[in-house]
Amino acid sequence: MLSLGVLCSGSGTNLQAILDACASGELDARVKLVLCNKPAVMALERAKRAGVPSRVLSHRDAPSREEYDAVLVTALREAGVELVVLAGFLRLVTPVLLEAFPDRVINIHPALLPSFPGLDGQQQALAYGVTITGCTVHLVDAGMDTGPILAQAAVPVLDGDDRDTLARRVLRQEHRLLVEVIRWFVEGRVWVERAEGQRPRVWVDGRRRAFWSDEP
Ligand code: GAR
Repeated sequence: MLSLGVLCSGSGTNLQAILDACASGELDARVKLVLCNKPAVMALERAKRAGVPSRVLSHRDAPSREEYDAVLVTALREAGVELVVLAGFLRLVTPVLLEAFPDRVINIHPALLPSFPGLDGQQQALAYGVTITGCTVHLVDAGMDTGPILAQAAVPVLDGDDRDTLARRVLRQEHRLLVEVIRWFVEGRVWVERAEGQRPRVWVDGRRRAFWSDEP
């Protein structure tokens, strides 16, 4: 059983998808700790309801990003976490966290990277006028949404979509994709290829994986 640490900043619907998949047996994993950088967010309530330990660790209490990450690492290690999942954690992380969990920090982003990194990928996609967007799960590196891609799901932008209708459809695919990728880690199917002068590439069972929204 894989031990997960989930980092959140807000509503925690991706956390909920993980908790549900663990509870139903779909994932042979357990959320050992939920960490939030903000107090009073819905993610904390979700952890409480699921009986999972949670902590608020405010970045405002740390003098630097590195020192903040050192606090996160201590908490994650104490909880015995093996895979760190950034699920709506709206903070850049540093090598302090990445080196403590090499190739074991993943992030979900609400756009098809490398398009629309950073905040509000859904609004960025809408404003740009793309007809297809989606979500990406990637290994985290020290850049902003730049790490090697694990999996992507495509979602059409429909006529009449506004930020919220689009975000809702993207979110449904996020929940699916994130659980699927965590399953690959549980089953030990992820392999990171590193070649001189090239971006690292992630293989799953020796293949690359793409997903499409099953909605119109
Ligand atoms: C999700 O859409 C996630 O992809 C996004 O925050 C939302 C969190 O929702 N993350 C980012 O934008 C990271 N750059 P949730 O709290 O309901 O899971």
